[in-house]
Amino acid sequence: MKLGPRVAIVTTLLMAGALACAIWAVLVVLRADQVRKLDGEAHAMADALAAGIEPLTPDEAGTLLPARVASANARLGQFRLETIAWGTQRPNNFWAGLVDQASRLDAPVGQLFEPAGMPLFYAMAIPLHSAQPGAPDRQTSAFLGLVCDSSFITAEVMGTGWRLLPSLVLGILAFGLLLYLTLRRRVVNPLRRLIEAIDAVAQGDLTRAVLPGRDDEIGSLAGRFNNMMDYLRVAREKEARATAARQAMEMHLRRAEKLATVGQVAAEIAHEVGTPLNVIGGRARTLAKRPDDPAEVQKNATIITEQVERITKIIRQVLDASRKSRPCLTQVDVTRVVREALGFVEELVKRQHIEVRVRAAQELQPIPGDPDEIQQVCLNIVMNAIHAMKDGGNLTIDLEQVVRRKEGLALSPPSPYLMLQVSDTGPGIPVADRDKIFEPFFTTKDPGQGSGLGLAVSKGIVKDHEGWIEVDDAPRGGAVLRVFLPVGSAAERPQAEGDTPAPVVENAGPSGR
Ligand SMILES: Nc1ncnc2c1ncn2[C@@H]1O[C@H](COP(=O)(O)OP(=O)(O)OP(=O)(O)O)[C@@H](O)[C@H]1O
Ligand SMILES: [Mg+2]
Repeated sequence: MKLGPRVAIVTTLLMAGALACAIWAVLVVLRADQVRKLDGEAHAMADALAAGIEPLTPDEAGTLLPARVASANARLGQFRLETIAWGTQRPNNFWAGLVDQASRLDAPVGQLFEPAGMPLFYAMAIPLHSAQPGAPDRQTSAFLGLVCDSSFITAEVMGTGWRLLPSLVLGILAFGLLLYLTLRRRVVNPLRRLIEAIDAVAQGDLTRAVLPGRDDEIGSLAGRFNNMMDYLRVAREKEARATAARQAMEMHLRRAEKLATVGQVAAEIAHEVGTPLNVIGGRARTLAKRPDDPAEVQKNATIITEQVERITKIIRQVLDASRKSRPCLTQVDVTRVVREALGFVEELVKRQHIEVRVRAAQELQPIPGDPDEIQQVCLNIVMNAIHAMKDGGNLTIDLEQVVRRKEGLALSPPSPYLMLQVSDTGPGIPVADRDKIFEPFFTTKDPGQGSGLGLAVSKGIVKDHEGWIEVDDAPRGGAVLRVFLPVGSAAERPQAEGDTPAPVVENAGPSGR
């Protein structure tokens, strides 16, 4: 049951109980008043009777009283008078108690009787004396009994109770309804608005301000919520600015790395082209010296043609490489990309006695991305692993599909990612270095061996693909780097909890081929 109806019902029931107790107390007081009034009337009547009959000697009691009682009964209305004791005549059991009290007090004593199954009645014992008060020979000569049917008191009390009942029920219902409406307006609706605002925050909407201007507890809760929204908004803007700056920096770094690569390529070209150019120059000079020897001319012309073809090939390769550097978004078969990358390092792997295994899950979906950039990430991580295993070891690459929640986005739903995991048996990455290795120019390699840009650039590329990289210890020592890349568009991704790795099949070979 919801809060509003629950609080309204509980409070109304408590209220009904309290009102019922109050009405019961009113009825008790009403009954006591009625009894007091009846007692007063009986005492007044007893005084009048005593004044009319006294003095009455014990001898007169037997003879005079019956007639007096009979004539009084004719005028007493609801009261009934009887002689209950005189001379040696003792009162019966019913009157004995009242007579005892009346003789002890030497005054009329009355009491209300409520016998089981019989109507309520009032009885009073009235002592009669033989002389006026103060006379030395004054003594009690007889007792009169005054009886009155008092069932009218019960009727009056019950009648009042029944008259109050409808107002009580109506009052309680009206109170309950009013309470419910007030609770709904003042508590339930504001809380609902707060919950809607919290849901909106979960959806990423930080623009809502709720219940401004309320000065009670709900108002201060809403105020705290609004402050938190302001704080989150500012933090989000700050983070967006920092992210933009970081992206600019990463782009800058990638450009710097490309420039470095261009410099390296230029040196390579100079070296590669220099040799055939020397050969061409030498052969051309020989041709110029011996133009009359056809065999020599043909031989040198053939060599010059071969060298020109070699230069053409080198230039074509450079052109191909430069064309590839343009980002090309397509559906990428990561297993193929990984195997191609491993092909590039095949010689190095053999030289360092490293055993390579590729374990790719069956039916891996292609992912959206740039195959060259993904290959660059794979090569950077694999090269690091190879460099970490100078004296040989095992390099294992696992490819599988997992369902994960993107790191740092606790509220976003889990979605499918392709996980590229590279494990080696090198010395591993110290915990203290794990945050630093993604920083540009962080390297533990000797000068000239590493620029410290490989992982910084890889992180940028993976981030452009809306993925992330994790670092871990390998179970048997060494390092594990896991690259997570989203599978399909956000709209296509199923929503599920936790990791559900796809089945993994062994697909091994010295270089994964
Ligand atoms: N598999 C690994 N085992 C041990 N240390 C590693 C591993 N991968 C990375 N590192 C550490 O991370 C550092 C940074 O790596 P990163 O690829 O960014 O730069 P680099 O390899 O030093 O230089 P570059 O890649 O630019 O030639 C490395 O110098 C190394 O200390
Ligand atoms: Mg590296």
